[in-house]
Amino acid sequence: MTVTIVGSQLGDEGKGALVDRWGGDADVVVRYQGGDNAGHTVVEDGAEYKLSLVPSGAVRGTIGVLGNGCVVNPSTLLSEIDALRDRGLDPDVRVARRAHLILPYHRVLDSIEEAGKADDDDGVEVGTTGRGIGPTYEDKAGRRGIRVGDVLDRDVLRERLSYAVSHNRAVATGVYGLDVDDSEHADAFDVDALYEDLLTVRDRLLEDEMTVNCSDFLHRRRQAGDRVLFEGAQGTSIDVDHGNYPFVTSSNPTAGGAAVGSGVGVTAVGSGEVVGIVKAYLSRVGSGPLPTELDGNDHEAALADDIRERGGEFGTVTGRPRRIGWLDLPMLRHASRVSGFTGVAINHVDVLAGLPELAVCVGYELDGEQIDTVPTTTGRWKRCTPLYREFDTWDAFDGAAVADAGYDALPEAAQTYVDFVADAVDADLYAIGVGPDRAATVELANPFDRLDE
Ligand code: IMP
Repeated sequence: MTVTIVGSQLGDEGKGALVDRWGGDADVVVRYQGGDNAGHTVVEDGAEYKLSLVPSGAVRGTIGVLGNGCVVNPSTLLSEIDALRDRGLDPDVRVARRAHLILPYHRVLDSIEEAGKADDDDGVEVGTTGRGIGPTYEDKAGRRGIRVGDVLDRDVLRERLSYAVSHNRAVATGVYGLDVDDSEHADAFDVDALYEDLLTVRDRLLEDEMTVNCSDFLHRRRQAGDRVLFEGAQGTSIDVDHGNYPFVTSSNPTAGGAAVGSGVGVTAVGSGEVVGIVKAYLSRVGSGPLPTELDGNDHEAALADDIRERGGEFGTVTGRPRRIGWLDLPMLRHASRVSGFTGVAINHVDVLAGLPELAVCVGYELDGEQIDTVPTTTGRWKRCTPLYREFDTWDAFDGAAVADAGYDALPEAAQTYVDFVADAVDADLYAIGVGPDRAATVELANPFDRLDE
């Protein structure tokens, strides 16, 4: 029995709040893609934990697994675990032996490639998080990556490192003109230094019995009756296949990624629940087109500022202010089709309260034609003019009281808004986020209960 949580937009939809909520009903929470480019805050008993790699359930004693589809920076992983231990927790984290490692040279290459693009006037900069995600997935696809399992065998590790480092050094020197040995990054490309560091990682992984054959581990847990929650990071529109390429991350946040990135069969993932998490407006960190962006004039910029401030729209990992736009239904329809949503949760509905106006993009006009889905090329998407439907706004309300009292206590205009969105993507409405506090959620259905029905 599995529940998969997927970001429907551009990441930062507030997936963490629902993973926290429903993760309590799971025995195992699995991340299946991405790495420490994700960031979420878990609040448990009033204490706040900022995590980017450790699955959030680990804070409350659920087993957290980083699947083979993840890219793992071992220093981030071990320091997050240590920080949780320092605060009296004992997180049970397992890492797939088939997952790939983010090593220091990946971060260096990520930042120098981005810096080079930023100097270019062609608008090719992606605005990555600088965590080395892209270069690590490149090495994976290029068959020169180093996997968690490789670290466990000293000889294999040495051999794999020698090959991977020589290739990445050649890229740094030949493509980017970096004088590696005479730079602050010398250690990042030094086989001996990397080898020594990874031996320390190896000791920790062995000591804590952290590594698993992910597919086999999850198979056995599921056979024993465990409930598995797949925690997607990022979102559909930055999926490397289904997003607005090249302004994407390098993995598959969409639901198909849960099967590939964990070794659990597609039939198991597909016969479970797939819940799309939607933010009631759009935010984007990083570059790329955003047809509904509120940046056309001073009035729109003021609306965006208001939403940004109220919604706390600043990157969790990078602190960058996020770009803001109206909700984009073509984007959501695409997300629902790609992942096969059984339900949706709509977050940040409180943030829209009291706005002077409210609109939803219901389709686009492109080259004189009306279309209702996102074009396959970013160039065409950029040329789309949104077609809006206006909605009545609603007054500010007490999120905690509404969460307690349930859906009927929501202002009527807010009910109309969320019902319209769920209808448009042909999925049931499972939850509505009505406040920054995790408890401020109106729950209409729990996906694990749905599976029991
Ligand atoms: P990367 O994943 O660091 O390579 O960044 C690629 C693109 O994905 C950039 O536009 C990032 O801003 C975006 N991105 C990566 N992770 C997240 C996330 O967790 N939330 C929102 N955007 C993200």
